Amino acid sequence: MKCRTSGHSERWKLGTMVATSNSGSRKGFSKFIEESNMKANRTKLIAIIFFSVPFFLLTVFNVTPAKVGAAVDEPAATYKAKCAVCHSPTASKFYDAAKPDEHHVEVIMKGKKGEKPPFMPGFESKGMTEGEAKGLAAYMRGLKTP
Ligand code: HEC
Repeated sequence: MKCRTSGHSERWKLGTMVATSNSGSRKGFSKFIEESNMKANRTKLIAIIFFSVPFFLLTVFNVTPAKVGAAVDEPAATYKAKCAVCHSPTASKFYDAAKPDEHHVEVIMKGKKGEKPPFMPGFESKGMTEGEAKGLAAYMRGLKTP
């Protein structure tokens, strides 16, 4: 009798303990979920930053190289960007269309230091190819001979 009752009460106690520990662990579990959610959110944020920063950099800095690359097919854009400042948009300054293309290409590539500024900068040292220089020389000639 005693044994059974105590056994019952033990079982009951055990049941309560299980119930308590269960609810306790459930709380703990939901806390864990919350924390891991927060962690996941932080991880997501970090991932987003890590992925978007290179994209941001690409969009910002790729604009310029893309334009420079396009200069090969577009002497007009390069001329407007790099040459029109000194030569005017119509190549009316410091340019003599009577001189041969070879001379023009040579001056574009190597530059030419006159008596007083502005001086024609050499563009070979700035990464310009002879093809680009030829394109620009032809473009300037085109401006002079409509
Ligand atoms: C800082 C001003 C400046 C810039 C920028 C400039 N030039 Fe010149 N360029 C000159 C000057 C000044 C001369 C004349 C040099 C001389 O004969 O003493 C000249 C000469 C030339 C000549 C030779 C003209 C001739 O009849 O002898 C060509 C071709 C030329 N530039 C093309 C270009 C091109 C193409 C660009 C752009 C990629 C460019 N220049 C950018 C100032 C500039």
